[in-house]
Amino acid sequence: MYLSKRFIIIFLYFILINLFGIFLYFLEYVDLLFCSDCKEIDSSEVFDYIVVGAGSAGSIIARRLGEDKTLKILLLEVGKYDNTLLDIPSVGLLLQKSVFDWQYVTTPQLASCLALDNNASHWPMGKIVGGTSMLNNMVYTRGHFEDFNEWFQRKKNYNYDTDVLPYFRKLESNRHETKSSVYIKDLIFTSILPDILLDAATSLGFRVSQDTTDCNIGFGMPKVTIHKGSRWTTAHHLLSLNKPNIFLRTNRFVEEVLFHNNYEAYGVKYSYWGKSFYAKASNGVILSAGTIGSPKLLMLSGIGPKDHLDDLNIPCKVNLPVGENLLDHVTTGLDLILLNQSLGIGIEQMLSPYSIFEYFWYGTGPWTTGGCEVLGFMDTQSPISSHSCSKRPDLQFMVMPLGLNEDGGTLIRRLMGISDYTWNNYFALLNQTKTMTILPVLLHPKSRGTVRLKDKCFKSSPIINPKYLSNKDDVEILIRGINVIKKLTGTDAMKKLGARLNDNIFPGCENFKFDSHFYWECYVRHLTITSYHPVGTNKMGEETDSTTVVDFNFQVKGTNNLFVVDASVLPTNPSGNINGPILMLAEVASDAIKYRDFLNRERCSIEEIFIAKNYC
Ligand SMILES: Cc1cc2nc3c(=O)[nH]c(=O)nc-3n(C[C@H](O)[C@H](O)[C@H](O)COP(=O)(O)OP(=O)(O)OC[C@H]3O[C@@H](n4cnc5c(N)ncnc54)[C@H](O)[C@@H]3O)c2cc1C
Ligand SMILES: *[C@@H]1O[C@H](CO)[C@@H](O)[C@H](O)[C@H]1NC(C)=O
Ligand SMILES: *[C@@H]1O[C@H](CO)[C@@H](O)[C@H](O)[C@H]1NC(C)=O
Ligand SMILES: *[C@@H]1O[C@H](CO)[C@@H](O)[C@H](O)[C@H]1NC(C)=O
Repeated sequence: MYLSKRFIIIFLYFILINLFGIFLYFLEYVDLLFCSDCKEIDSSEVFDYIVVGAGSAGSIIARRLGEDKTLKILLLEVGKYDNTLLDIPSVGLLLQKSVFDWQYVTTPQLASCLALDNNASHWPMGKIVGGTSMLNNMVYTRGHFEDFNEWFQRKKNYNYDTDVLPYFRKLESNRHETKSSVYIKDLIFTSILPDILLDAATSLGFRVSQDTTDCNIGFGMPKVTIHKGSRWTTAHHLLSLNKPNIFLRTNRFVEEVLFHNNYEAYGVKYSYWGKSFYAKASNGVILSAGTIGSPKLLMLSGIGPKDHLDDLNIPCKVNLPVGENLLDHVTTGLDLILLNQSLGIGIEQMLSPYSIFEYFWYGTGPWTTGGCEVLGFMDTQSPISSHSCSKRPDLQFMVMPLGLNEDGGTLIRRLMGISDYTWNNYFALLNQTKTMTILPVLLHPKSRGTVRLKDKCFKSSPIINPKYLSNKDDVEILIRGINVIKKLTGTDAMKKLGARLNDNIFPGCENFKFDSHFYWECYVRHLTITSYHPVGTNKMGEETDSTTVVDFNFQVKGTNNLFVVDASVLPTNPSGNINGPILMLAEVASDAIKYRDFLNRERCSIEEIFIAKNYC
C-alpha cells in the first residue's frame, strides 16, 4: 500500500517538475516575443561605470555607485529577468539545468567524485538577474572573524571591528538598519527536526544558540535571505529602488574588456542577439561575473597566466595568476541516517494544495523552505569542551530533514550527476525507508584547483578542475565529521526517531570493512559532493604577493580602471556559507571605488601616476 501511494506521489511530482521545465522554456520565449529588453545602448554614450553581472555582488556595486545621482552606471547581464514564480524558495532547485543555469561540469576527478557520472561534479550557477543567489539555499552566515583577519592580514591598520563588521551590519537589514540590501530572517517553516537535533547536539556538549550569525561555533538555526516568504536577493533590492541613473540591460553577453595602451580599461565588447556592440566607461569597469565568469573574461581579455594565453594565441597584456587558487567547500554524507518515521516534510507535503494556498496567501509553509534547517560549526582538532566563539571551525554541518531518496531519483540525483550504478545499488535500496542528511562540509580545503579557457570563443564553458581531495588532510577532516554524525545519530534524542546509520555498503567500497577508517575514505572519495561554494580564482591581497590578482582596492594589478568584485576575489573560503561574506566584500569594494573617485577628483587633472610593472 505504502509503495503504491509513494509511487503515485513521485509520479505526480515527476509530471509537475517537467511541466515547470516547460514553463521555464515558455518564459524564455515570452522574453523573446515581448522583447522585454530591446532598448539598445547608444554607442556614443559614455557611462561612468560599467558593471558586468547582475548577481549577488554586481547588484550591490551598481546600487552603491549609483547612490551618486550624477553618475551613470551600466549594469550588463547575460541572463534574463526574474519572474515572481521563480522567487518561490522551493523552486530554486528547479532552475538548475534550465536556461537560468550556466550548467557547468568539472573535469573528471582522479581521486574523488567516483560515484558521479564521468567522475565529474555538477556546478549550477545563476544566469539570471540575481545571479546564483536566485538558485541558492538562502542560508546567511558571516563566517568567522579570523577568516577576514587572514584575508586582510597585510593590509595597513586592518581591524575587524572597523573594516569588516560595520559592513555586515550594513547588510543585515532587519537586524540593524533599513538602508540595507538584503532581508535576513529566521526560518519560516521547519519540520520537527530542529528541536530534536539541537537536543542531540546539546547532549554531546556542543554550544547551542538561537542565532548562529554572531557566534560561529556550535549548533543553531540558520538565518535566511527571505522577504515576505519569497526569495530576496540584492537584485530584488536594486530593482525595488528604481534608480534612473542605473541602466540594467539583460541578454548582454560580455565578450571582453577593452583597453587603451594594453592597461587602461575603457569599456567592454558584448554580444546581443548574435551581434557585437561596444559600451564605454570613463571611470571604470567592474567585473562581477562570478568565480568562473570573471577569470574567464579576464583571460579572454588577455589578462592571465602567460603560458596559457600563449597556448591559445591570446596576446598577453598582463601576466597574472588568474584562474589559479580555485577552492570549494566539499561535502558528503547523503542519506547516511535512516529514520523510522517521517519528519513532517517531503514531496507529499510540497504537493499538497494547502501548501500552495499557504504560500500564496500567507507567505508561509513548506514552499518557503530552502532545505537546510540546522547549522553546526566545530573545530575537529580540539575537544568540544574547549570551543568558544573565538574558536575558528574547520567543519560545518548542514542538516536537512530529507534524503536524496525522497524524490525517487526523479530530480536531485540527476542534478548532482549520481551515476546509475550508484543510484541502483545504494540510494534506490532505501525506497521504503525515511532518511535524513547531515552534510559535513570541509571549511578550509587544502586542495586547490584551476579554471582555464577551453578556447578563444566567449561562449565556450571553461575547463574547471577543482582537484577535490587531492590533499589527504581534506579527507581526514571529512571523516572526523562523519564520526560526529555517528555520535549525533546515537543520541537519545535521535533514537526517538529511530535514527540509525545507513549500513549498506557503498558501491565501489565492497573491499573495505564497513565503518573502518579505510571504508570511510573510500566512501568520501566516491560520494564527493560540492557544497556550491567555489571561490578564489582572482585572489585578493597585497600587490607584491605573486599569488594575487587584485589588490586590496579590488583593482586588477598592472591595469587601471579595472576591478573585480565577486566570489572570485575571496582568497580563501570563509567558515560558513559564502554569500554573506561576498556581499560584505561588495560593500567594502563600493566604498573603496567611491573613495578612489573622490581622490581622483581632488587631484583634478593630474595624469596617471600608474607605473606599468607587470607587463608580459
Ligand atoms: C545550489 C546552490 C546553493 C547555494 N546555497 C547557498 C546558501 O545557502 N548560502 C550561501 O551563502 N551561498 C549559497 N550558494 C553560493 C552563493 O549563492 C554564491 O556563491 C553567490 O551567489 C555568488 O555571487 P557572485 O556575485 O560571485 O556571482 P553570481 O551571483 O553568480 O553573479 C554573476 C552574474 O554574472 C553574470 N555573468 C557571468 N558572465 C557574464 C558575462 N560574460 N556577461 C554578462 N553577464 C555575465 C551571471 O549570469 C550572473 O548573473 C549556493 C550556490 C548554489 C549554486
Ligand atoms: C572514474 O574513476 C574510476 C575509478 O578510479 C576509473 O576506473 C574510471 O576510468 C574513471 N572515469 C573517468 C571518465 O575518468
Ligand atoms: C526497493 O528496494 C528493494 C530492496 O530493498 C528492491 O528489491 C526493490 O526493487 C526496490 N523497488 C524499487 C521500485 O526500486
Ligand atoms: C521504530 O519505531 C518503533 C516505534 O514507532 C520502535 O518500536 C522501533 O524500535 C523503532 N525501530 C528502530 C530501529 O529504532
